[in-house]
Amino acid sequence: MQFQWYPGHMTKAKRQMQEDIKLVDLVIELVDARIPMSSRNPDIDELGKNKSRLILLNKADLADDSVNRAWMDFFEKKGYFVVRMDARSKAQMKQVHAVIADACKEKIERDRRRGIKNRPVRAMVVGIPNVGKSTFINSFAGKACAKTGNKPGVTKGKQWIRLNKDVELLDTPGILWPKFEDQSVGLKLALIGSIKDEILNIDEMSLELLKFLQKDYSNLLRVRYEEELSSDPVAALEEIAKRRSCVKKGGELDYSKAANLILDEFRSGTIGRITLERPEEYEA
Ligand code: G4P
Repeated sequence: MQFQWYPGHMTKAKRQMQEDIKLVDLVIELVDARIPMSSRNPDIDELGKNKSRLILLNKADLADDSVNRAWMDFFEKKGYFVVRMDARSKAQMKQVHAVIADACKEKIERDRRRGIKNRPVRAMVVGIPNVGKSTFINSFAGKACAKTGNKPGVTKGKQWIRLNKDVELLDTPGILWPKFEDQSVGLKLALIGSIKDEILNIDEMSLELLKFLQKDYSNLLRVRYEEELSSDPVAALEEIAKRRSCVKKGGELDYSKAANLILDEFRSGTIGRITLERPEEYEA
């Protein structure tokens, strides 16, 4: 699902999020492991204060795994529980279950001290569009889980999925609005494919990507395009266009075709596992 955001959308999304968050103890936030900061909305920290927090570094299969680990340390130091994962993989959900149990331990203890017994912890999934929220809920909850709703104490219309005796999950995820007014954030969101390509300049994007890859992943570029590409991104794009026979009818090079090819190969992980931002850039 790709989304265009307008101020009205954001206000509505924020209001809905404020309401939903009141109902839960644990906020499960999905971020894209290729851009863990640019795929967050920092407002969630304010909205989710006083709640247990779990960050899922999703699409970790597409991201550089040594950087995945560095991001896990980064968020853990800030007090979040963190798991890196591929939301499509049901096998990885066991680990998420274990971390949720850990994240909720304190809450269950607190309830017990207050004499509240057997009240399941409630959780909700939040994240920007396309980050993998629905995929995660499907893999995590599966079909076997009974839905519960419209019972006393449950807000009308809200559906909860019972995960086990201790945890219930709100069945609709909360959609966070990305911070695309920051240009570098907007570019990174576009590169991973979460902003509609039609409104973007594909040629420019491919040049920015090439510039970045030359800096941090020149070895992957060399292997994928079978040559040492020029350090000038325009020249590199031309080299790729030639090598991949991206030509127009008259024999002229088709730069846009080459640009699309590079973006597709990046997004699908064909160039390799790549992360566009690193924790060092965000350490105070
Ligand atoms: P959303 O609810 O947050 O909007 O996201 P959704 O689950 O719809 O997932 C968006 C796309 O991302 C889907 O691809 C999904 O398969 C893919 N995806 C989700 N999690 C992962 C992951 O961990 N790794 C990888 N590699 N892909 C993941 P799609 O249906 O093919 O849509 P699209 O590719 O056409 O956008």
